[in-house]
Amino acid sequence: MIKITNDEFRLLANYIKECSGIHLKQEKKALLMGRLTSLVTELQMESFMDFYDYLKKDDEGVVLSKVIDRITTNHTYFMRESEHFGYLQTEVLPFMKSTIKNRDLRVWCAASSTGEEPYTLAMILEDYFGKEIVKWDKKLLATDISLDVLDTAKKGIYMKEKVDSIPKMWVVNYFNKLDTMSYQIKEHMRSQVIYRRFNLLEQNFPFKAKFHVIFCRNVMIYFDNKTKEELINKFYNALEYGGYLFIGHSESIDRNKTQLKYIKPAVYRKV
Ligand SMILES: C[S@@+](CC[C@H](N)C(=O)[O-])C[C@H]1O[C@@H](n2cnc3c(N)ncnc32)[C@H](O)[C@@H]1O
Repeated sequence: MIKITNDEFRLLANYIKECSGIHLKQEKKALLMGRLTSLVTELQMESFMDFYDYLKKDDEGVVLSKVIDRITTNHTYFMRESEHFGYLQTEVLPFMKSTIKNRDLRVWCAASSTGEEPYTLAMILEDYFGKEIVKWDKKLLATDISLDVLDTAKKGIYMKEKVDSIPKMWVVNYFNKLDTMSYQIKEHMRSQVIYRRFNLLEQNFPFKAKFHVIFCRNVMIYFDNKTKEELINKFYNALEYGGYLFIGHSESIDRNKTQLKYIKPAVYRKV
């Protein structure tokens, strides 16, 4: 097995943080070695230093994407932290419906992983607007740094166990059964979500218009405080006044360092 030296760990950890915001403390050395060894071997490299040199030359970020997949979890599921979706339905969408005069609703699911979160949002919006949906110019953007999770998300194919936990009406309305083991999100729902690769560490968010709702859940756990504060500030700028930011329930925002208003656990608003 190829071993990682302290110097190699430091170089790799600094580079990963610089590129993705993911903060690996010294005690994660064994974890990094364990998770990356197979990739280093696959690439037929003899040391982590060779791998580091290779990673630095990876302009397209393809290898970086694989590294991130190995050191973070892509774990997600439909209706995760379901209180958020309840609040969206009962408070946020009625407000947006009555205040967005041009009917142009923009929702961003940042760090969308394999798609369960943006498709949950798509189903909530579809149910909420009902027949009126055709009068709305909705945009549902879903982004992630990982190419692999975006590929899975675009296909929208999920194992039966994942689909079993969601309301039966959703399965009937929004999924096609492929076989005894799997389901696929129907085409008319898949086409509602625009998937793009996007690194939350980008200094400038390239979006032309501001968002009414941003979901960014269970990714900031990997970032240090400074990276988190900068990201929250960028979200603030990317939100419309009156717009909402949802974060993971195990994540927090230092209320002294943001202009966002705390509304309820893991829900903030630009006022
Ligand atoms: C645990 S999943 C969260 C999925 C979903 N938001 C949820 O709460 O269920 C974390 C995701 O963050 C993505 N990620 C990690 N660093 C990122 C970055 N710098 N920019 C964008 N996405 C990132 C990972 O690829 C992964 O898919």
